[in-house]
Amino acid sequence: MAKLLGIDVGTSGCKVLLIDETGKVLRQASAEYPLSVPQPLWSEQNPEDWWLGVQKCLAEIGEPNPDAIGVTGQMHGAVFLDSQDEVIRPAILWNDQRTVAECQEIDDRVGVTRVRQITCNPPLTGFQAPKLLWLRNHEPDAFGRVRSLLLPKDYIRFKLTGSKATEVSDASGTALFDVPSRKWSEEILGKLDIDGAILPECFESSEVTGYTNGTGGLSKGIPVVGGGGDQAAGAVGTGAVKPGIVSVSLGTSGVVFTALNHAEYDERGAAHTFCHANRAWHAMGVMLSCGGALRWYRDTLAAGVSYDVLSAEADTVPVGADGLTFLPYLSGERTPHNDSYARASLSGLTLGHTRAHVSRAIFEGISFGLLDGFRLLEGLGATGKEIRVTSGGAKSRFWVQMLADMFGAPCTTLESDEGPAFGAAILAGVGKGIWTDVATACEATVRTKTIVSPNSTDYSAPYQRYRELYPAIRNWIGNPET
Ligand code: XUL
Repeated sequence: MAKLLGIDVGTSGCKVLLIDETGKVLRQASAEYPLSVPQPLWSEQNPEDWWLGVQKCLAEIGEPNPDAIGVTGQMHGAVFLDSQDEVIRPAILWNDQRTVAECQEIDDRVGVTRVRQITCNPPLTGFQAPKLLWLRNHEPDAFGRVRSLLLPKDYIRFKLTGSKATEVSDASGTALFDVPSRKWSEEILGKLDIDGAILPECFESSEVTGYTNGTGGLSKGIPVVGGGGDQAAGAVGTGAVKPGIVSVSLGTSGVVFTALNHAEYDERGAAHTFCHANRAWHAMGVMLSCGGALRWYRDTLAAGVSYDVLSAEADTVPVGADGLTFLPYLSGERTPHNDSYARASLSGLTLGHTRAHVSRAIFEGISFGLLDGFRLLEGLGATGKEIRVTSGGAKSRFWVQMLADMFGAPCTTLESDEGPAFGAAILAGVGKGIWTDVATACEATVRTKTIVSPNSTDYSAPYQRYRELYPAIRNWIGNPET
């Protein structure tokens, strides 16, 4: 039976997974590496640390001859290489916020409407193109030495194979990619005065991009497929490769994700449309504080009481938490407001409220945030007949039931919830020819565990209250920089 390797270059660390053709996880290893914040709102990592971490994991897995390899990882990061293929400066990551002026520069040079038509998204601070412009504007010497621009997982591909390549799902998050046509945009490159020769060749996610060169303890000649950005690969790992299935990831951030048959995009840029790893497209809403808001609550207001206790007591309180509403925008918000100045709020408190009410309001507020994302995806044509709930929060039956009730659709959890590395390994199998396409591969490897059916619980009144709170709070905050 074939052995498939998935490599995930995450932000806090990397993970390597070996699976077989049934989706059984044979071995896995992970390693952490540091993140540097040289200035407030900056976020950088040393690409060499990723490579050291991956090599450590490969040594631990100890399989020099997998049949195929897929790579995935944190999206949007910029790795700058010189003429000798040496890293010029630390990589600037997806969550770095230094490029507000360069995003405006892109809108000015390309035109607001044209950027959105070509890339299906607004230029966001985390994306790669504004970082390249930032380098040109602020570190011109370094910019002058740039001969290659790679995404994080593609730096690892380069180390493994010696070839500079990427694939459509990650390329979609650069603001340099024509998402409907699935190729680099000559128009954007021209208008931004960027030399297209620095960009890697772009493949479909399950295509073979090159072969191992004997580094990392792997034999020579193993095919390495495109793989995917962490969200696209993660969705492959949940089986969200057909429009009827929506995946909801309850991690630190929350992601609502759907496959699309066409490159439909949200005009306001509140949800992202990217190429999917299945040769079609996907849309997703990204909520910045999901499990992160719950963790904040547990560690601060709830003084360390366990998640189990907090959800059990939340379950004793009626829907709507007796008038208490929580807005989860603790770090600003991407979907649905795209507003770094959005702020969280706990509103409507009375002497009658207990910790259980607050716990319920927190769970409801986070879930309403996900519902906002789900509604946006519905607006782009997602049908959402089945919701697949993954990541840490999927362990809470109470939370999964709440989502089923709010979304009005059955929510399933998965047997193997291994994240993007699992999806990358599945894509490797498609590239190797074990399966004809990604959907068939998912049917063979992704197994659901529990199905939670929606009850007739009515959340419309507290959701309405939630929707009305953001504009009021936003109006009250004004522009915090003035
Ligand atoms: C996707 C996104 C994150 C990063 C880091 O748009 O910003 O998923 O890829 O995980």
